[in-house]
Amino acid sequence: DTSLPLHGQSVLVTAGGTRERLDPVRYLTNDSSGKMGYAIATAARDLGAQVTLISAPTALSVPAGVTYVGVDSAAAMRAALLQRYATAKIVVMAAAVADFRPAAVAENKIKKTATDYTLTLTKNADILAELGQLKQQQFLIGFAAETQNLLTYAQKKLAAKQADMIVANDVSQAQAGFNHDTNEVTILQPDQAPQQLALASKAVIAQQILQIALKQL
Ligand code: PMT
Repeated sequence: DTSLPLHGQSVLVTAGGTRERLDPVRYLTNDSSGKMGYAIATAARDLGAQVTLISAPTALSVPAGVTYVGVDSAAAMRAALLQRYATAKIVVMAAAVADFRPAAVAENKIKKTATDYTLTLTKNADILAELGQLKQQQFLIGFAAETQNLLTYAQKKLAAKQADMIVANDVSQAQAGFNHDTNEVTILQPDQAPQQLALASKAVIAQQILQIALKQL
C-alpha cells in the first residue's frame, strides 16, 4: 500500500535477551521476552515498512510479513545489524544486549569444583554506540532499561550513543519492562522535552514510538 507512511522503507528491529555462552550446555542471559521488540516490528510492518527482526531466542511467533533473523549472542546480533545497517531507514534497538560475555567458552561441559568457581567476563561491543557513529540517513532509536535515575541515565545514553531517540524504560515499575504485556516509557530526543507515554499495551507503546519517530523523518 503506497499510501502508508513507511511504504518501501527498511526498518531493523532487535528483540530479546542475548545469550552469552559458557560451555556447550550453559549460557548467561536476562529476562527479556522479546515482546517489546516484536510489537515494534509489527507496528512498523503495519505502517508499510519492510521489516527485519533480528531476534535473540524468544517464545514468541514471528509476526507475518516480517523477515526474521535469529541470533544468539551480542556478537551475532552486532554482525546481523552491521550487515543490514547501510540501507535501513529506522533502526530500533529493543533487545536486551549483554554488556559482558564469559572471557572463554569452554569446549566441554565445565565440571563441578569442590569449592567456589570464579567466572571472568569480558566486555561486549556497545552496538548502539557503534551504530550511532556509523549513522547516515538512519533514524536510530535505542532503549534505556534502568532501575534507578531513569531520566538522568537515559539522557546520558541519548548523547553518548548519538541516538535520535531513547525510549527510557523504568524496569522496576509494576506492569512495565521485562516480560510484561504492558509498558510505561518516556521518550527522549535531542533538544526536546521528555515525552511521557502512559501505561499501555506494548502494541500501543510501539505505535506511539513510531508515530513520534515519523514526525522527525
Ligand atoms: O523484551 P521484553 O520482555 O518485552 O522487555 C522489553 C525491554 C525491557 C527489554 C525493552 O523495553 C528495553 O528496555 N530494552 C533495552 C534493554 C537494554 O539492554 O537496555 P540498556 O540500557 O542496557 O542498553 C541501552 C541500549 O543499548 C539498548 O537499546 C540496547 O539494545 C543497546 N545495547 C546494550 C548493550 C550493548 N552491548 N549493546 C547495545 O547496543
